[in-house]
Amino acid sequence: MTNTHGMHVLPDELAATDAVPMREAIDLMEEAVAFFDADCRISATNASFRTAYSAIAEYIRDGSSWEIFLLEAERHGVMASRVCQDLRLAETMLGDGRSEHTRLEHRPEGTRTYEIRLRSTSNGGYAMIQAEVVDERARAESDELAEVLMSKVLEACPANLTMSRIGDGQILYRTPAATELLGAARNSRDHFARVEERADFVTALLPDARVDDMRVTGRRRDGTEFPASLSARLIDYRGDEVVVANMIDLTDELALQAELERQKDLAFQSEKMSALGELLASVAHELNNPLSVVVGNATMLSEEELSDAALRRVGKLSDAADRCVRIVRTFLSMAREQPLNLAPATLPDLVETAIDAFHSHSDDTFTKIEVTLPPSLPMVSVDDIQMVQVILNILTNAEQAMSDAGIGGSVRIAGARHSGTDFVRLTLSDNGPGIPTQIHGRIFDPLFTTKSKGKGTGVGLAFCHRVVSAHGGSIQLDRNTATGATFHIDLPVAQD
Ligand SMILES: Nc1ncnc2c1ncn2[C@@H]1O[C@H](COP(=O)(O)OP(=O)(O)OP(=O)(O)O)[C@@H](O)[C@H]1O
Ligand SMILES: [Mg+2]
Repeated sequence: MTNTHGMHVLPDELAATDAVPMREAIDLMEEAVAFFDADCRISATNASFRTAYSAIAEYIRDGSSWEIFLLEAERHGVMASRVCQDLRLAETMLGDGRSEHTRLEHRPEGTRTYEIRLRSTSNGGYAMIQAEVVDERARAESDELAEVLMSKVLEACPANLTMSRIGDGQILYRTPAATELLGAARNSRDHFARVEERADFVTALLPDARVDDMRVTGRRRDGTEFPASLSARLIDYRGDEVVVANMIDLTDELALQAELERQKDLAFQSEKMSALGELLASVAHELNNPLSVVVGNATMLSEEELSDAALRRVGKLSDAADRCVRIVRTFLSMAREQPLNLAPATLPDLVETAIDAFHSHSDDTFTKIEVTLPPSLPMVSVDDIQMVQVILNILTNAEQAMSDAGIGGSVRIAGARHSGTDFVRLTLSDNGPGIPTQIHGRIFDPLFTTKSKGKGTGVGLAFCHRVVSAHGGSIQLDRNTATGATFHIDLPVAQD
């Protein structure tokens, strides 16, 4: 091949001793660049060029010819044949001196567009420079498409998303689901029921620009409050710091959790009761006979001629033995499966009988009892004698607790139908000292008492539990009451 581009061929020109070596300098360029010498052979390429034409790496080494480069590029589909032809022509024109500079378009994958320029170099050769063409119009179009897609996705998004400025809280965007839950407030502050919780949220968000599952109290569009889980990210949007937040209403989830917790408690309580009950019944049974020997002999001893001191001791012995007998009897009667004599009864009748019995038991009771039982309540299916005993036990406990602590003095009895179920709930609340949280799990245990010796045996609530469970109902201590003690008894509605 003849030198068609100039007189001097200076193959070492690129290795000139500049401050930065030439090859290193051209490697830094984003454009793909190849230098061809006057013989149309590659004298240097840069890294971008080698990457762009890596498919034909062996034909773009130093010394490779222009023609072969074009042929192989075409054969491997790296360049369209039209582009190859144009380049061939451009090189000829450059060589003829008809042009110093040629531009043409090249779209290798049909997606990006490149511009290829050929330029003469002072050593009689030429350089091929390939750069990506950034099409502003296409870019604007694709931005617009992205925006349309984004707004379609957000409009259809079932999550409660809001976008608001962090500084003044002004809402920039919200999904329809968020409007549904939180209303159309202009400021994200209105989504929080407590100002201090918003402050905590912002404080938590700032350091890492993210917050996950923070518990806050939200405010619904109708003004009511709800427990919420808040997750958010802080992003930069058109020069503003913007909070993208997702607030989830936890009301149903928490109610479900509480219900599961309650069911677990009930099941645990029942299991514990039946195991303990069986154990106690067999112990009581075994104690019955030896105890009657102790009582009988103590009675006989008290009739003997003994010194006063000895008689006093015998008296103590017989008192203690009597107490044991009473306890054993209570257990035996508790453990014995009393047959249930079920019949329809009204809650007001049961409650009234229990209150009468309560007054006749304790003559000087100070406890005020307030009953509110709507007449619409359905009848319940119960063994009235046993159920009156249950109510009486709870009233007695309340009275004892209040008089011991010197707090409170009234008991409220209310009733309500459980919506959607076949149960009626009787609720008894006193305003006494309440039950310490640490013993909540033990009060239904047989023999569990906090009362001093001789005052309580700890069977009252165990009895209540056994009776109510035998009815297919349940009895629970309300663990959420702030003052006093509240018991709920759920009883089955009588079927007619
Ligand atoms: N209304 C109440 N207020 C405060 N504590 C209560 C109340 N009801 C029950 N308790 C607590 O529960 C414990 C167990 O009650 P439970 O009726 O089973 O036994 P008791 O009253 O101690 O003895 P018994 O009923 O055999 O006389 C009580 O000792 C008391 O500590
Ligand atoms: Mg009691």
